[in-house]
Amino acid sequence: MKIDELNLPEGLDPKHIPAHVAIIMDGNGRWARQRLMNRSIGHSEGVNSVNRITRFASDLGVRDLTLYAFSTENWNRPADEVDTLMNLIGETILREAPELRENNVHIRLFGDIDRLPESVRRNLFEGRDLCQSCNGLNLNLCLSYSSRWEITRAVRLIARDVREGRLDPDDIDESVIESRLVTAGIPDPDLLIRTGGEQRISNFLLWQIAYSELYFSPVLWPDFDEKAFADALIQYQNRERRFGMTSEQILSLQK
Ligand code: FPP
Repeated sequence: MKIDELNLPEGLDPKHIPAHVAIIMDGNGRWARQRLMNRSIGHSEGVNSVNRITRFASDLGVRDLTLYAFSTENWNRPADEVDTLMNLIGETILREAPELRENNVHIRLFGDIDRLPESVRRNLFEGRDLCQSCNGLNLNLCLSYSSRWEITRAVRLIARDVREGRLDPDDIDESVIESRLVTAGIPDPDLLIRTGGEQRISNFLLWQIAYSELYFSPVLWPDFDEKAFADALIQYQNRERRFGMTSEQILSLQK
């Protein structure tokens, strides 16, 4: 859908949509518990929110939507919940890929993907490959991902390059580190949303969010809808991002 055909919530400026939105999708378990249901039902409902928000973000013209779908620490959950989540993620990607392709959504997988069960990996790769030629929204799925895992990996890659004579330690700067992150080449998130009422970062994109705007929503992820997403964007649009500079400097840069 084109942005001018959307029934945009009052106060949302379609000309200042953040290019990159990252989301910590939290609250599936509580959503289920409140209804005396198994946590897995909460995760299934969470998939509906993923579909809804992906479609809306794409319609709004967001360039990158980065979702924290399964963290390194989530491996420590009870085995049956891990299995449920793995199967759900694998099945969802395969099922949704044709529609994602129709909507020109490009899929990227970030994290220690080798740790995922083979059948899930196969589905993920199939879904990603189906959308390979799409150039609309980039849907970045973080799976078996944590920021400390990512930074440790980057250090290992850099150390290898130094050992093998490809890199001089004196040449290591921020861009060298950035180029070894899983998000290499992707602009940092403008906005990081966490749903579910908790106010922490939980090992997500620690390097990349240095200057992101943070937004904490009390809404549990399965209830997070277009209106809740728009509320986050409106808040974002009303903030002044200074990147360590003064208001006056920012204003003169905008002229
Ligand atoms: C946190 O809620 C949510 C997760 C650990 C999983 C999120 C995954 C999905 C919504 C499915 C994603 C699927 C695709 C295809 C991307 P929680 O269980 O920690 O909730 P709680 O804090 O209420 O217990």
